[in-house]
Amino acid sequence: MTEHAVPASELYTHEFATDPYPAYARMRDTTPVCLVGSPRFDSYLITGMDDAKAALTDPRLSKDLYGPGEHYLRIFGPNSASLNKNMLNSDPPEHSRLRRLVSQAFAARRIEALRPRVVEIVDELVDAFFPHGRSELMSEFAIPLPMMVICELLGVPENDHKQLIGWTEVIRKSGASRRPEDDRAAVQQAQLRLHHYLADLVRDKRAHPGDDIISALVDACDRDGTLSEQELVATTFLLLFAGHQTTADFLGNAMVALLSNPDQLALLRANPELLSSAVEELLRFDGPLPVASPRIATEDVEYQGVRIPRGSIVGVVINAANHDPAHFADPDKLDLCRQGGSHVGFGYGVHYCLGVSLARMEAQIGIGALLRRLPGLRLAVAVDELHRLPPASPFRGLVELPVQFTTG
Ligand code: HEM
Repeated sequence: MTEHAVPASELYTHEFATDPYPAYARMRDTTPVCLVGSPRFDSYLITGMDDAKAALTDPRLSKDLYGPGEHYLRIFGPNSASLNKNMLNSDPPEHSRLRRLVSQAFAARRIEALRPRVVEIVDELVDAFFPHGRSELMSEFAIPLPMMVICELLGVPENDHKQLIGWTEVIRKSGASRRPEDDRAAVQQAQLRLHHYLADLVRDKRAHPGDDIISALVDACDRDGTLSEQELVATTFLLLFAGHQTTADFLGNAMVALLSNPDQLALLRANPELLSSAVEELLRFDGPLPVASPRIATEDVEYQGVRIPRGSIVGVVINAANHDPAHFADPDKLDLCRQGGSHVGFGYGVHYCLGVSLARMEAQIGIGALLRRLPGLRLAVAVDELHRLPPASPFRGLVELPVQFTTG
């Protein structure tokens, strides 16, 4: 280990899981580029906003995990191509080809047409728990909302939504078990089942096409071979997983942030027109994807005077960059009226989030409905007792979010 190295045991503590921002501030101040040995793989972490933007657009930092070097082996392990060889893990021109095929379906105008249906789903979910005066918001709201929306877009039959949530939750919560080998086995099993399910679904859509994204992808695959069968299944997996998991964690984090900042909660309740800027500030404040997906240095590169050797894994710490005081005044404060500063919560560069319009719409409608329909909404446990995903998880989110409210 070099002078810029931090052992995982020092970084990924219980305190870090509750509030990682003091540790991020220390890293940004003292070792803005440092090598962290994590239980999953060692990586160079980049924490300042200027470096983050430079790294996310640096062609020497490749996303082609399945190209020469077989870098996927260190990150996803063997037999992972069937689900992970998709646009997120590729570079242009392959990336552009894979992204172009689905980008139209997620264009802002298309997504806006879904608004009434999203409102309907949100209302149905709230109706189901409202009479109880309490809810576990992750399982009853934050997870099913984006899952139902993305499943409808993809054309996944309604009867299968619960099963899909079961499998994807195993992946989201991995690392929570006391025995890492149990965890790994459960994740592999869930991935295998997801792969079989999605491959069957693709076969079904080929036989009985519908007005949905998977049918359109099958058509592109069969008509001119612009997409291989494996790419088709891996793209479907990416849309399903990225399309619900980040939004689910974001909804949970956003509600905790609001419920722990009563002045901001009151401000938003009194001024619902602030919802769209509030969603951006909540994403900056505590985003669901703390570190962008791994990049690989294709040659030796230097950031902040630290040499990152060729072949290294590089992680851009989005949540640290979004708290960089050089870009955001008083960065650890939630300020729904914040002016200026652009966050990287949806990424930056060619891999910028494809589902940004959908994510924003779901968050605005979802958070708006919870505030409007649940008077006296409060956490049912203290903030530091909330059951969170493990500190070294690639996701920042909650396992459970118990809340109470008044019904009368
Ligand atoms: C609050 C919710 C969301 C957040 C915070 C978020 C964040 C991100 C980030 C940071 C990236 C870039 C990752 C990187 O460069 O390593 C990304 C990429 C992506 N996101 Fe999202 N996302 C959200 C919701 C969604 C939704 C609803 C979809 C719908 C399908 C989606 C689909 C994608 C896809 C397909 C990519 C890969 C794009 C590419 O490689 O070109 N995301 N997202």
